[in-house]
Parts: sequence; C-alpha cells; structure tokens
Amino acid sequence: MALQLQSVLLRNLNRCIKPWKKRFHNKPYVRIVEVGPRDGLQNEPVNVPTNIKTELINKLSETGLRTIEVTSFVSPKWVPQMGDNVDVYSGITKKDDISYPVLIPNLKGLESAMKVGVREIAVFASASEGFSQKNTNCSIQEGINRIRDLVVVAKRENLKIRGYVSCVVGCPYDGHIQPSSVTKVTEALLSLGCYEISLGDTIGVGTRKTIENMIIDLLKITTPEKLAIHCHDTYGQALVNICTSLEYGIRVVDSSVSGLGGCPYAKGATGNVATEDLIYMLNGMGMETGVDLKKLIEAGRYITDFIKKPSASKVNNALFSKYFN
Ligand code: HMG
Ligand code: MG
Repeated sequence: MALQLQSVLLRNLNRCIKPWKKRFHNKPYVRIVEVGPRDGLQNEPVNVPTNIKTELINKLSETGLRTIEVTSFVSPKWVPQMGDNVDVYSGITKKDDISYPVLIPNLKGLESAMKVGVREIAVFASASEGFSQKNTNCSIQEGINRIRDLVVVAKRENLKIRGYVSCVVGCPYDGHIQPSSVTKVTEALLSLGCYEISLGDTIGVGTRKTIENMIIDLLKITTPEKLAIHCHDTYGQALVNICTSLEYGIRVVDSSVSGLGGCPYAKGATGNVATEDLIYMLNGMGMETGVDLKKLIEAGRYITDFIKKPSASKVNNALFSKYFN
C-alpha cells in the first residue's frame, strides 16, 4: 500500500511539474484562482458598493493573477451582496490574459450572465445532502440535474465551465463526509463537461489525513490536472491541506485576498486561505505563481480598510508597513 501510494505520488508530481517547469524557468507553476470578490464578499454583512468591488477587482487584475472569480449570478433573495452582478461584471476593466469566471446556480443566472458577455462560469454542487438543501434548496441529484440543463446552453455558447464540490470532508449539517460521496459528485460534474473541479472544504474542518483520503479516492477516477483545492481556513489548517494537495500533484489553488469571506449557508465558517499567505508559502517553496506579492498586499488592504476589518492575512499584517510606510 505504502509503495503503491509513493509511486502514484511520484507519477503525478512529474506529470504536473514538467510542462510548467519549462514555461517558468524550471520552477513548477501553481495557478491561483482568486475568489475574494465572490466567495469573500458574498458573506460580508455591510453592503459593499459596486464601485468598491470593481476597484478591488481592477487592483487584483494588476497583480499577475490569471483567474479572478468576480461575482455570482445567484438569487439576490438568497445572497443580496451579489445583487449587483451585472454592474460589477460590466464595470471592471478586463484584461485579455485574465479569465473572470462567475458563479452560476441555474439557467436564469446563466441567461443574465450571458447578456453581459461572461466567458467562463463556475457551477456548484455539494457532497452532502444537508448543505445542498440549505445552499441551493434542492437535493444533490436535483442540483446535478440543474447543472446538466445549464451546461447544455453554456457549451453551445462555448463558455468554459469550472465545477465546485462543496463539503468535501465535512458538512455543517451532516458532519463527516465520506470520500466516496465526493468522488461520485466529482465524476458527475466531470462527465457534464467541467474542465476542472475545485474541491471545497467549505467549513475548513479538513486535516492532512482527511484531505489525503479524499484525494486518494478521487485519483481512482481522475488525474490531478482536473482538480483544484479550495480551503476555508476556519481551523487554521488551510496551508497544510494545500501542501498535501500539492504533494498529490494538484496545481490549482483557490484563495481569497486577505482571507475575506465565508459562506452565508455555512454559519461560523471563515474565509478562504488568504492569497497573500498562499503566495508567500509558494514563493518559499520555489514555486511560481506570477503574482506580485506587494501589489496583492495593497489590494488586500484596500478592501479590508473599506470594510473596517483587520486583514485575516498574517503576511499582509507582517509586510504592509514594511512595503508602504
Ligand atoms: P429557490 O428559492 O429554490 O429558487 O432558490 P426559485 O427558482 O424558486 O426562485 C426564487 C426567487 O429567486 C424567484 O424570484 C426567482 O426569480 C429568483 P421571485 O419569483 O420570488 O421574485 N431567482 C433568481 N434571481 C436572479 N438570479 C438567479 C435566480 N434564481 C432564482 N439565478 C437558488 C434556488 C439556487 C436560486 C438559490 O438557492 C440560490 O441562489 N442559492 C445560491 C446560494 C449561494 O450563493 N451560496 C453561496 C455560494 S456557494 C459557496 O460559497 C461554496 C463555494 O465557495 C465552494 C465551497 O466553499 O465549498 C462555491
Ligand atoms: Mg468557498
């Protein structure tokens, strides 16, 4: 078993590192998916005006990030903070080499997003029944059926489709989640045409062992190139869990500038791992992200100053005065 595991690890590492090493002067590349403007701000109780959101996104666009999830086209009755999705998407300055995905729950959301020219969408399902009901008012299977209906249209329009699976190790309503439940939903989303599945530890309860068990099960049906990791940092385990994912060959990591956020339907869960902390760690590991840490720190401070909260990023707190005073 140990030998088998070791050879899976080595095979995955080699396969993922080789192409990126070439592009980035032999440094392995990790793509960061910045989710602060969506996952971060969706949980913010004070109304953040549209112009503040667009300015944050424009600042993030200057940092070297290649993917920024900018808003969601969910029901404003469920998440009022995202109700200005059309104005946010239309108001940002888009760069050709950056993708600006938006979160889509149903056909209605997709239709609104297409009207403003969205090119990449993210669909979301859950590995737990309890969270599926609370977050989307339907069962896991009904959620997948909804996604099936909307991806038919999205594919016809040549949109890129990313998938999320929430509650990959634990659920605020159902407790511990079996790896096989995650694998089943991931397989369904991949078969619908998602180019990549982001594995959401929605409430940040994962540890090295539970994350590892979940990934090992997934690697029976897919390869690490099809996976991303999305860790909320409620219990301070996010960086460890990301390192574990990197060991298994995953090379796409979601994060939120200054650790903004949480999920409105997962009470008590804090924001994603802070992008600044993630970049600092990856820099230290000799991995390339293309992201300028100083510019990122400035963007993070811009939004935490506005919402009048201290930054949840330790790196931002440690380096801000060094860079800007
Ligand atoms: P529902 O109430 O069952 O839907 O919600 P409905 O079809 O009955 O519609 C209710 C009302 O909402 C209607 O308005 C619809 O028109 C409207 P009314 O007729 O009453 O005036 N509506 C919409 N309006 C605008 N855009 C739409 C839309 N859809 C319906 N797209 C629904 C079902 C899925 C819509 C709802 O449950 C919902 O929007 N849920 C989203 C909740 C959410 O955004 N959660 C956070 C994101 S997920 C997350 O954070 C996890 C993630 O980060 C990964 C991780 O960490 O694990 C991705
Ligand atoms: Mg999330």
